Amino acid sequence: MQKFIIKGPNKAVKGEIDISGAKNSCLPLMAASILFKKKVTLRNVPFVKDVHTMRNLLVSLGSKIEFSESKKTMTITNNKNHNLTVPYHLVSTMRAGVLTMGPLLARYPQKKIKVALGGGCALGVRDTNWHLAGFRSLGARNNLDKGYVNISTKKGLIGGVYKFPKVTVTGTSNLIMASIFVKGSHFVKNISIEPEVIDLINFLNNSGAKIKFIGKRSIKIIGIKELINGTHNIIGDRIEAFSYLCAGVITSGKVKVKNINPNHLRTEINVLKKMGCKILAKENSIILTSAKKLKPIKIKTGPWPSFATDNMPMILAVLTKVSGRSQIEETIFSNRFMAAPELNRMGALIKIKKNKAIVVGQNQLTAADCISSDLRTTFSIILGAMAAKGQSKINRVYHGLRGYYKLETKLRKIGIKIKSKN
Ligand code: EPU
Repeated sequence: MQKFIIKGPNKAVKGEIDISGAKNSCLPLMAASILFKKKVTLRNVPFVKDVHTMRNLLVSLGSKIEFSESKKTMTITNNKNHNLTVPYHLVSTMRAGVLTMGPLLARYPQKKIKVALGGGCALGVRDTNWHLAGFRSLGARNNLDKGYVNISTKKGLIGGVYKFPKVTVTGTSNLIMASIFVKGSHFVKNISIEPEVIDLINFLNNSGAKIKFIGKRSIKIIGIKELINGTHNIIGDRIEAFSYLCAGVITSGKVKVKNINPNHLRTEINVLKKMGCKILAKENSIILTSAKKLKPIKIKTGPWPSFATDNMPMILAVLTKVSGRSQIEETIFSNRFMAAPELNRMGALIKIKKNKAIVVGQNQLTAADCISSDLRTTFSIILGAMAAKGQSKINRVYHGLRGYYKLETKLRKIGIKIKSKN
């Protein structure tokens, strides 16, 4: 199993990183291809592990997929009828597999769709109850049988109203996709407006869908008969971009991230500025220059435009080195501080009280052997290891490879002393 070995403390990083397409845009866009009878072409595809898992899932449902990693493109053709069972082994390794529910229901409303339930994950309980309640608001019925949800309708999908009790990202994408061919119009309230959801809406609207904003978090979806050929350029990955900016901060370096819309990181950029970093945001890039003396900060995660929960583990690592007392409040997931015990093994001082982390910055961290338990925790531990004195070994880095394209190569490009070992 692949391990990373990092020698620290790393000198100030310097350089530029090409940010890949957003994994969390790519996965729903791939699932959305099920809605099309014609070809879908995606550009700026990040060929990370989760994207390959989604590819396998779509192929198992009957899609034909061609791709070129060097050109960052993928074409998906769905001219045959799909298998309507989404197997457990593909949903259990990647929760985003549930995103096939909505498009399968939209395309085959009168048939029985069977999707394995993903269960919990390292971040805590991850339910799909609001996805299913959303489908019910369109007239679908569902029942659970041996770990699979069966979904079907009697008379097809009919427009109505649904309000999400709390913002859910994939729940929103799933319900939008389910509603594309609805009879009449469907109104959905309290939706996620993360840039990745907007990316999906733009793709569908450019392909003939009629999704209109009627409020900040409310949309009206007017049912259409068929989507036309779909082509889309995936937005840059704001989580990947922030991760590399944090490498710049923790090593007191200077880093430029390219192919990223700075507006997608506006809250995070303000946080970094408040800490004392200099930021130059251009149309499609961000240049960060860290400061020798950074200030502690208070952060609360939340749905976009708040500070992203996915960016929290990285700022947590950075704050372990910022003198003074910082505080992070996590409002999305019940178990998102898994990097804390690993960073504490390097000498960080992080105390967790319910959904809050209190971080007291230390002058020096010391290297340790660590275990990564999820995607963003991997990067958080890497950041700790960059700052720690000595050689740290990070185990189970495959979690990181689910969502960071060419992680090792990109880190090395900005001067991180990293080696990998099997
Ligand atoms: N929730 C429910 N019921 C539902 C849906 C959600 O209780 O039916 C709860 C969840 O348990 C969680 C909260 O609502 O406590 C928000 O979860 P959300 O549904 O928004 O998360 P998600 O859609 O499953 C996506 C990203 C995650 C990211 C979250 C939050 C994708 C493929 N995944 O997950 O990305 O953390 O939104 O922004 O888009 C990652 O990339 O590392 C990652 C975990």
